[in-house]
Amino acid sequence: MRPFYFGTNTKMYKSSSETRAFLQELASLTTDIDSQKHPIFVLPSLTALESAIATALERKVLLGAQNMHGAEEGQYTGEVSARMLADIKADLVMVAHSERRQVFGETDLSANTKVLRAIAHSLRVLLCIGETAEQKAANVSREALRMQLLLGLQGVNQADCARLWIAYEPVWAIGVGGQPAEKDYVDRCHGWIHELLEERFGTCEADIPVLYGGSVNAQNALEYAVLETVDGLFIGRSAWNAQAFSGIIHEVSALRQERLG
Ligand code: PGA
Repeated sequence: MRPFYFGTNTKMYKSSSETRAFLQELASLTTDIDSQKHPIFVLPSLTALESAIATALERKVLLGAQNMHGAEEGQYTGEVSARMLADIKADLVMVAHSERRQVFGETDLSANTKVLRAIAHSLRVLLCIGETAEQKAANVSREALRMQLLLGLQGVNQADCARLWIAYEPVWAIGVGGQPAEKDYVDRCHGWIHELLEERFGTCEADIPVLYGGSVNAQNALEYAVLETVDGLFIGRSAWNAQAFSGIIHEVSALRQERLG
């Protein structure tokens, strides 16, 4: 059985002490969850990351950064590098979240530089892709996803597949005011992403989990989680309370256990 992932990005909401309290509660509520079958990850703010890593109980919850710079080092005031994240023993780094693309103007090419740099420092990389509402309306979602994937993953080798995670997050479904996507639409897009990854990496595609995100909540999590094309849930608002996040994790893992053994 492929692992099924549960992750959250706390965006610019939780301070360092709030993050530690959240992680402690989450760890104590999920002691019964098998982390091989159901890996859990949290992407806190940068100021919270190092102390979260230092205090995370047995590191059962994987911890990573929400962003990094693509250069090895240099005159980039205010930025952090892959080497710095590897140095504090971050497990992963997210690249090109839709807010980075929409608000900070990040491109597929800058995403690609970051992906390659992160892999060079042995970090796992969560590359976020997703079409805009305009692209969906113009019926070019598959083309948009293909472009983001192929450009974002230029130069990535088959041997790196084990470090690569993809989050499919339609821009129109994310955050306050986002519209939860229909499950059939999510299934179709995830199917395309798996096909594109296979075209790009051959059978190694099987090593790359494709997570779904965008207004996932306790009401719709199961609908997405039963789709065979979905390898995990990447949740914002509905996971920032440890009990709510743990509730989703337990419901989904119990259902998958029942169905898949
Ligand atoms: P949301 O956020 O679950 O609050 O829509 C998802 C995300 O931004 O990754």
